[in-house]
Amino acid sequence: MKSLIVSLSAFILVLALSLAVVPQYVVGEEKMTMPFGTEDDVEFAKKLWKAMKGYTDWPFKTDVYLGQSPHGAYLKMFYGVVTVNETPYHIIIKDNYMGKDKSGNKLSMEDVAKDPQKYLAAVTIMLQQKKGYDPDNNDWFWAKYLADGSLDKNPKGMAMAGRVAKGMDAGCIACHKGAKDSDYLFFNDKM
Ligand code: HEC
Repeated sequence: MKSLIVSLSAFILVLALSLAVVPQYVVGEEKMTMPFGTEDDVEFAKKLWKAMKGYTDWPFKTDVYLGQSPHGAYLKMFYGVVTVNETPYHIIIKDNYMGKDKSGNKLSMEDVAKDPQKYLAAVTIMLQQKKGYDPDNNDWFWAKYLADGSLDKNPKGMAMAGRVAKGMDAGCIACHKGAKDSDYLFFNDKM
């Protein structure tokens, strides 16, 4: 537990430092027909997945830890800067692992920590978009990928990328809005 807290503190420090360094850009008028799953969102998410390549080796990450609903039974978090369309962005990546193996046997945290990729169920990300992208919600871009990098879809078949479930009662934004200090981040709430 101690190492988790130490690495989480490192996270916050780096996030705070780098937020001050990476320049913010202002985007012009955005097409606001659909809040997420648009062609632009999907294209950005695809490029982003490529830009994220190798993130499991990034220096800022936690150990595998016990998760909570709706994320995986076990989780691991990574922080870094990715470049998409020649623009750098801060990103927080959460690997969500299964709680049971394919035969239904319960997995322990040690099982998952030994071979995380084997038990990866989904990858959920929050990327700090350009200023003006979604001023109501701290300009976060949200996405949920499956383990193979394809975008997950909601029951209506909309790709989960962009301002996911903006204005809806449930989903990424509605739930993360409840995080302390209006930063939409939960990991720093316990400190
Ligand atoms: C019902 C509430 C809820 C919903 C819906 C939800 N999350 Fe989370 N999310 C959490 C909680 C709680 C944590 C902290 C979990 C932990 O680390 O133990 C979290 C953590 C995260 C983190 C790590 C940063 C942080 O806040 O600590 C990312 C990234 C993330 N979620 C992305 C997403 C995305 C993308 C979606 C939608 C596809 C989503 N979440 C939907 C509750 C939610």
